[in-house]
Amino acid sequence: MAPIVALLGFTGTVGSHLLPELIEQNKQGNIRLIVLYREGSDLNKIPSDVEKREVQLDEAGLEKNKKAIEGVEVVVSSVGAPGILSQNYLVDALAGSPSLKTFIHSDFGTNWTEEELKIPQLKSITVKEDVVAHAKEKGVPLTHIRVGLFDLFFFKFKAAGTDIVDNKVSIYKQALTAPLRLTTLKFLGYAVAQLVTKPDTLPNQTFQVFDLTPTGQDIVDTLTKIHGKPAQIVQYTDEDYHKGITEGFAIGAALQDKWGSDRWGASDRPEIKGWEYKSFEEHVRKALEQ
Ligand SMILES: NC(=O)c1ccc[n+]([C@@H]2O[C@H](COP(=O)([O-])OP(=O)(O)OC[C@H]3O[C@@H](n4cnc5c(N)ncnc54)[C@H](OP(=O)(O)O)[C@@H]3O)[C@@H](O)[C@H]2O)c1
Repeated sequence: MAPIVALLGFTGTVGSHLLPELIEQNKQGNIRLIVLYREGSDLNKIPSDVEKREVQLDEAGLEKNKKAIEGVEVVVSSVGAPGILSQNYLVDALAGSPSLKTFIHSDFGTNWTEEELKIPQLKSITVKEDVVAHAKEKGVPLTHIRVGLFDLFFFKFKAAGTDIVDNKVSIYKQALTAPLRLTTLKFLGYAVAQLVTKPDTLPNQTFQVFDLTPTGQDIVDTLTKIHGKPAQIVQYTDEDYHKGITEGFAIGAALQDKWGSDRWGASDRPEIKGWEYKSFEEHVRKALEQ
């Protein structure tokens, strides 16, 4: 029988990329998908043949949540920042579940080091550790999905300082020769949907899911080729870093430091079958069209 997989947070940036791929696996009979939703969640994009169950992520929701996860083997959560801690209510319902094989909590972040997590401005990341600790305390098996910077954040929101439209590349420390770890959201959706088809392989694992690793020089060369004129290298300084960490977009500054210091951590990737990897150049060209 196909494993029963539940998804929470399907309307978000990550969730909206997981949803179509999980629906596809459901259609192919590789999983049975159940969508978990909160009161008021927009269910418009959920096909009528996909089961939906309501959860209530507060003190009063335990019995409802236990019913919602009945029979489920894998729960995937992609809730955003305001919902991270509310996953603890889901953990309470998952504790002792006879069917559960693993809870893929909403991590989808990079491998932050203990030192990095001590940076006060990265507090929004450390709350994920609270969920991990709570799950451990309750005996709920976990799976961690680690990624690079999302393509959307690199190309559109310029989270690593590079501006592909203005032909500018922001370089800190050794970033010209060090790889930038990027995860395209489409690849993430495809990869996660493939991983959950084999629930027995998931508990207590950390998967590194990323599909692009251009160095700063690769980015410079690609932009130079596409724009037909030399890309401008903008030096990101220690001063920029400290300003970014304390007063600006702290995660962006921390990522620039990670990239420049080549401190991405584990890099062993699961085999994802059937994915047609595209080059960094193809991704840049596509992003420029949008
Ligand atoms: N690596 C990267 O570059 C990167 C970038 C961004 C995010 N991330 C990570 O990816 C994960 C998902 O982030 P995202 O940006 O996709 O989030 P998002 O777009 O803000 O997701 C919102 C989702 O969270 C749900 N939600 C919001 N508040 C909730 C609450 N109090 N309780 C339960 N659910 C709640 C919403 O459900 P409703 O539809 O019910 O409102 C919605 O489905 C996070 O762990 C985030 O840190 C990584």
